[in-house]
Amino acid sequence: MPSIIGLGAFSNSDFKNIVKKFECSADPKLFEYLKYNALGHHKQGLFQTYLFQDDEEYKGYISLASTQIAVDDTELRQTLGVSDGLPYPIPALKITRLCISDPFKGKSIGTLLTMFAEIAAYEQQNKIGCRALLVDAKEKAVSFYGKLGFNVLDDTEDGICRMFKDIESLRSKDVNRKPEQKEMVEDFIDFCNTFNLPHFSKTFEKILTEE
Ligand SMILES: CC(C)(COP(=O)(O)OP(=O)(O)OC[C@H]1O[C@@H](n2cnc3c(N)ncnc32)[C@H](O)[C@@H]1OP(=O)(O)O)[C@@H](O)C(=O)NCCC(=O)NCCS
Repeated sequence: MPSIIGLGAFSNSDFKNIVKKFECSADPKLFEYLKYNALGHHKQGLFQTYLFQDDEEYKGYISLASTQIAVDDTELRQTLGVSDGLPYPIPALKITRLCISDPFKGKSIGTLLTMFAEIAAYEQQNKIGCRALLVDAKEKAVSFYGKLGFNVLDDTEDGICRMFKDIESLRSKDVNRKPEQKEMVEDFIDFCNTFNLPHFSKTFEKILTEE
């Protein structure tokens, strides 16, 4: 069964063996992060990293962190429909790293891990609030994220382009009235069942069944 697994599930020695087989020639820094920092950061409650596993191989990883949209980030806040007068930073989720191991690039694993990040953002919204999924995309990955519904926020600077996806408000009351939202939540549950994420699917099952 394919799975998306948080690094908290691995011992140091198991993780060392997993990393040995990982390759990222396009961006060695992404490999180095996985090798030297990801497990420690995960266990310290910092950036949370998840591996994509299938056929007993670990094929890619994504790291996530909670973040905020500052009061002076006017354009993004307006695009998200946050009222002008709200004097607080608003909660969001950020993809801090995404990397697919060389032999498995171009097989939709990057797409699946990005969908997982979106599901994690809706889960975060349900528990503690989240109104956008953000990524500082490398220039060469902008069209990848664009295909997945991310919008460009600022001009590319130093090879980095700030992008975001709206994490719309998902409330049980609306989900049961709006067929497109209901379908999205049902797709999330299917995704969670496919990739062995029972903790996440519970949140969406609750949204579907609550009055
Ligand atoms: C970018 C990356 C995450 C994409 O993951 P992937 O599993 O190879 O991509 P997918 O198979 O899910 O591709 C989805 C779509 O994006 C396109 N795509 C994939 N990589 C792309 C790239 N680097 N640039 C532009 N488009 C890309 C695919 O052609 C595909 O398009 P299609 O649906 O029209 O066929 C992966 O190639 C990678 O790890 N690259 C090196 C590290 C990196 O750039 N990470 C992003 C940091 S912000």
